[in-house]
Amino acid sequence: MAILLTGGAGYIGSHTCVELLNAGQEIVVLDNLSNSKIEALKRVSEITGKGLAFYHGDLLDKETVEKVFIQNPIEAVIHFAGFKAVGESVENPLAYYQNNISGSLVLFEIMKSFGVKNLVFSSSATVYGIPETVPITEDFPIGAINPYGRTKQMIEEILKDIFISDPEWSITLLRYFNPAGAHLSGKIGEDPKGIPNNLMPYIQQVAIGKLDELKVFGNDYPTPDGTGIRDYIHVMDLANGHVKALEKTIHRPSLNIYNLGTGTGYSVLELKNAFESATGQIIPYSITEKRPGDAAACFADPSKAQRELEWQALRGIEEMCRDSWNWQINNPEGYKETKLTAEVY
Ligand code: NAD
Ligand code: UD1
Repeated sequence: MAILLTGGAGYIGSHTCVELLNAGQEIVVLDNLSNSKIEALKRVSEITGKGLAFYHGDLLDKETVEKVFIQNPIEAVIHFAGFKAVGESVENPLAYYQNNISGSLVLFEIMKSFGVKNLVFSSSATVYGIPETVPITEDFPIGAINPYGRTKQMIEEILKDIFISDPEWSITLLRYFNPAGAHLSGKIGEDPKGIPNNLMPYIQQVAIGKLDELKVFGNDYPTPDGTGIRDYIHVMDLANGHVKALEKTIHRPSLNIYNLGTGTGYSVLELKNAFESATGQIIPYSITEKRPGDAAACFADPSKAQRELEWQALRGIEEMCRDSWNWQINNPEGYKETKLTAEVY
């Protein structure tokens, strides 16, 4: 049996490929490479010494998705594929609803027709909107405040309805906090297109000299140093969370929601300082306007995942900074473009 990873060539997907292959799973990746490069999967194979099947295709293309299910004995799906940039979703909401919602509907419909009912879905802490208090537990009210977040919220609702209609489905919704870091080898990592929106990749590009300075979005939040607090989680811990979630999804059918975070929040300035001490690089910065829609503080109560999945984040902020930097200096231009030559790597 095999596990299908939609969007498996992306940042979180590629790290999860490594963890799944190391755990002895057969994997199949379906990705349209709209925000990733095939090189990431080649490197997954280099790291693990194992092969995987790759389909270069779009979730919206029903025939390709069906082909994946016809040609492979899929036991479960981890659904990463989607667009994820908040600002872009505000400018072009239709593209986000089309890709994220319609793509998911195609996938769920085909899963249903092939009788594949085990699913792990990449949701996001963004569904909590601006939380009234922290830490955030899974039963907090949800209320996304931008189109990207609403696609996650809507897909969660769709999946809850699917489960109600047929409890043979087994569905795990993973609400990630702020992924950072890279595989220890420095071979795979986050490779954003253009100027990064998120803090850690922005800091990395300042460190390597591609960007002049970090712009800190506001320093008058009600936090100890006035800058925004987030729950940064090492991408390898996140990847391991998928392995645990998958085990539970396959062996104990139900619908569950889990926060994947560390439970510890760091401010923008604390993250900057941690990066400087972990790497020896100086990050020049200035304080600028707040970014609209930013919460003062957002961090998880991850105890449900700890209790029910026997999972917890093991790596700290120093490792996230060290590993992000290691990836960046080894790959100053990110992944190089490689020709698509075969379907299996
Ligand atoms: P990513 O962009 O690196 O990976 C997503 C992958 O999906 C890419 O490889 C892209 O090419 C592919 N894709 C997009 N639309 C597709 C389609 N229609 N058909 C086939 N492939 C398609 O993003 P990531 O950071 O790895 O995030 C993975 C998932 O986790 C996303 O759903 C994202 O919304 C969610 N998430 C990410 C974060 C984060 O900060 N990175 C936080 C919370 C949730
Ligand atoms: C952003 C998204 C969120 C998404 C998450 C992970 C917004 C409004 N929210 O959240 O939906 O789930 O990424 O992908 O975009 N910061 C700076 N300067 C920068 C970049 C960020 O000061 O150049 C600050 C932010 O104000 C925030 C913190 O750093 O306080 C983290 O920002 P970011 O990495 O973008 O993550 P989120 O704000 O959590």
